[in-house]
Amino acid sequence: MLKVENLSAGYGDIIAVRDLSFSLERGQVLAFLGANGAGKSSTLMCLMGLVEQKSGTIKMDGRDITATKVEARISSGLAIVPEGRRIFPDLSVHENLIVGGHVVSAKIMTDGIDYVYTVYPRLAERRNQAAGSLSGGEQQMLAMGRALISQPQLLIVDELSLGLMPKVVDECYAVLQTLKQNNIGVLLVEQNTERALSVADKIRVLEAGNLTWSGSATDAKNNNSLRQSLMGIS
Ligand SMILES: Nc1ncnc2c1ncn2[C@@H]1O[C@H](COP(=O)(O)OP(=O)(O)O)[C@@H](O)[C@H]1O
Ligand SMILES: [Mg+2]
Repeated sequence: MLKVENLSAGYGDIIAVRDLSFSLERGQVLAFLGANGAGKSSTLMCLMGLVEQKSGTIKMDGRDITATKVEARISSGLAIVPEGRRIFPDLSVHENLIVGGHVVSAKIMTDGIDYVYTVYPRLAERRNQAAGSLSGGEQQMLAMGRALISQPQLLIVDELSLGLMPKVVDECYAVLQTLKQNNIGVLLVEQNTERALSVADKIRVLEAGNLTWSGSATDAKNNNSLRQSLMGIS
């Protein structure tokens, strides 16, 4: 579904990630691991068209989406839950979902919001409540719900578990499993290595903008020295 070749991305003269290649099929989860500043968020944001791409190609279902705008990438099936969630605290839950759906057609938005309320009944119950008054876990649900409005084929999630209680993290991971079962691909960035290994099919490790380890989650689980080094940074 997604094929990325020799991607480099950055900010002006700063190269945040270089020469990165990877692919993802429907229903697969790929997790990027690595220390702060490794280039994980820059990679995800570049895929979405939100950070400058310096070189390489991005293809979705064989179609080259390199250099297209964020709206076109959403149409091709991508959506992102950004690091830090970025919800609007003074707007209601429902308004936050509408804001998230602004680049899709009215029909897709209506269907999308129904879909989100089915996935997250708790958001439906709190649709008129200010988003800022939700618990941390509910805010993460809202951030994920907002990304799901366009009913993406590939959901990109940056720092899924950051700042959440273990029980809430369980709920978030249960949703990822459901997406996987529905044949949706997930690109995940996660500081919690064990959680990432529990859901991922593929692992890519970044260090200072370079890919330093690449393999299946099974191989990563069996690689004690890799796990030790990843524990040290999370
Ligand atoms: N807006 C920005 N402007 C300039 N440099 C940035 C910006 N955002 C991130 N960087 C730099 O890009 C590199 C990778 O950062 P980032 O992708 O956020 O890493 P990670 O998500 O792995 O912590 C870092 O050196 C960081 O300082
Ligand atoms: Mg980051």
